[in-house]
Order: sequence, then C-alpha cells, then structure tokens
Amino acid sequence: MLYRDLGPFRTTAIGHGEMPLTIENNRGHDVGIDTLHASLDAGCRHIDTAWAYYTPGEEEQTGEKLVREALATWKGPREEVTVATKIGLRRAWEGDKPVWPRDGKPEHLIAYGKQSAMALGVDTIDLLYMHRHDPEVPYGESIEALRQLLDEGVAQYAGVSNVTIEQLDIARAILGDRLVAVQNQYSPIHLDTQDTLDYCAKLGLAFVCWSPLGGYRHPYDESKFDPFRQVAAAHGVSYQQVVLAWELAKGDHMFVIPGAHRPETILDSLKASDLELTPDELAFLG
Ligand SMILES: NC(=O)c1ccc[n+]([C@@H]2O[C@H](COP(=O)([O-])OP(=O)(O)OC[C@H]3O[C@@H](n4cnc5c(N)ncnc54)[C@H](OP(=O)(O)O)[C@@H]3O)[C@@H](O)[C@H]2O)c1
Repeated sequence: MLYRDLGPFRTTAIGHGEMPLTIENNRGHDVGIDTLHASLDAGCRHIDTAWAYYTPGEEEQTGEKLVREALATWKGPREEVTVATKIGLRRAWEGDKPVWPRDGKPEHLIAYGKQSAMALGVDTIDLLYMHRHDPEVPYGESIEALRQLLDEGVAQYAGVSNVTIEQLDIARAILGDRLVAVQNQYSPIHLDTQDTLDYCAKLGLAFVCWSPLGGYRHPYDESKFDPFRQVAAAHGVSYQQVVLAWELAKGDHMFVIPGAHRPETILDSLKASDLELTPDELAFLG
C-alpha cells in the first residue's frame, strides 16, 4: 500500500470515500460495515466521511456513525487510521430530489463540529474540512469558526473543500500551518481544479481528489475514460485502477478517496496502489 504524508498524518494515498454507504441508494447498514472492514483489512488507513453523509430524513444512519461502528468492531489497529470529516452542508429533499443545502453560519459550524466528534466517538477529530462555501456567509467568517474548533481541541487539523485559489488563501491566512489539505473534485471528467492542484503542490499542501472516478452523477462523457481503458487492457487491470494511479502520479501531494457501494469495488480500487504507469503511458493519458 502506498503511504504519503497528509499533513502530519502518514497514511495511505488511497483513502476510502464513505459517502455511497450512507446517502441514498446505499445497500444498507451491514453492507456498509462489510465494505469499510474490507478496505481496512486490505490496508487502507484513511477514511473520508462528512457530517452530511446521510439520506435526507434518515439521520439515524449517518456516515460518521457508520465509520465509528466499523472502527469499533474492526479487529485491526484503530490508531493507525486517519479519519477525516467535513462540516458546512446539510441534506434535504427538494420534491423527490435529494439536495445539499449549504450552512456556513459560524455558530452552526461550531455545533456541527462538536456533533461530528460525538458521532465519530472521538475527543478530537483528526482532520476537519469546511465542506463548501456558503455564499450567504463571508468565507473568512466560516473559517474563523473552523479555527475556533481547532483552538478548542474539537479537531486537530483543518482542510478546505470545493475551494478556489482565492478561498484557499483566505483559509491559509486564518488557519496557518494547521491547514493541511484541500479536497476538490478532480478526475478525467473534471479537470477544472488543476489550478488548485498545482497551487497545493507549490504550497506543500495535500490535494485530495473527490469523486476521483467521476462520481455517481451520471450521465457524463464516458469517452473521457477511453484512453484509461486502453492502458488498463495492456496491464490487465480495471480502468478505474488506471485512473487512480494516474491521479496519484500527478505529485507526491496527491491523494484519492474512491467511493464504493460494496467490498468488491473498493478492493479493486485499492490495488491501484501497486500499479505503476510508465512515463509513456502517463504522457499518453495527459
Ligand atoms: N468534498 C466534497 O464535496 C465531496 C463530494 C462528493 C464526494 N466526496 C468524497 O469523494 C468520495 C468518492 O466520490 P464518489 O463516491 O462520488 O465517486 P467515485 O469514487 O468517483 O465513484 C464511485 C463509484 O465508482 C464505482 N467504483 C469505485 N471503484 C471501482 C472499481 N475499482 N471498479 C469499478 N467501479 C468502481 C463505485 O461502484 P459501486 O457502486 O459498484 O461500488 C461507485 O459507484 C466520496 O465517497 C466522498 O467521500 C466529497
């Protein structure tokens, strides 16, 4: 398993994105626990979840609670696992469509952060991200709340997610070296965040790709994965492994957090850790 430094945490470059296990269309509690146990057993030591990873109306089964239970019932070394969570989004139904309302009000963020620690069953969260900017609150005010959570020991380190370079600079100015990671969408179908990826490399911040395989919001342009299928055929592996290996090859600051609804897919994704792409293949993939 490939290990890298996610700020102060020495952890696996491939983390487990927990979201599909608890938002709508999940396959139930037991499959969720089995899927998390399968990735931990395979050596994954980084789990990514969020306060808002639940199906709207089903708050009793949140991602954070599932992660807590999976770690409590796992026979392996819990202390080796870095758990990241996020605050600043909620869930709701808009008609028959599940949506992600933003909530960056400082007093709410403080409450969410404390609820996250409780749900995860920890005194101090390893890594706490601001999930997404709430346009009704100046970004700096939300980030001040994150700083308060760090000052109070609710979280040890902070990250920001879905940020522009300008927002990242606001967060850096407030959080200083306790800001260790940026989590932005990045994949062959979503390359718009290349500027923040490059900026993180320059600053020495971890860049964590969310929905690294394109995510669950179909349809998207499947043809973007064709070059990856071509390279995958030559290696005899899934194209998803090639995508993840290509993302990790973008720099030592790169992390990926593929999601999965079942053990088989996360176990396949974790094998990307051992997949080495040649310079020619990387040049071909771009
Ligand atoms: N910060 C944010 O705003 C934000 C937003 C979205 C997501 N995230 C994070 O990013 C994580 C990953 O995102 P995601 O779950 O949307 O998308 P993803 O990782 O891009 O894709 C997950 C989908 O790919 C399939 N898959 C995964 N590995 C596979 C493999 N090796 N072979 C074949 N299929 C494979 C899964 O299939 P199965 O369904 O068959 O298992 C699942 O449906 C989330 O869990 C969450 O932690 C963060």
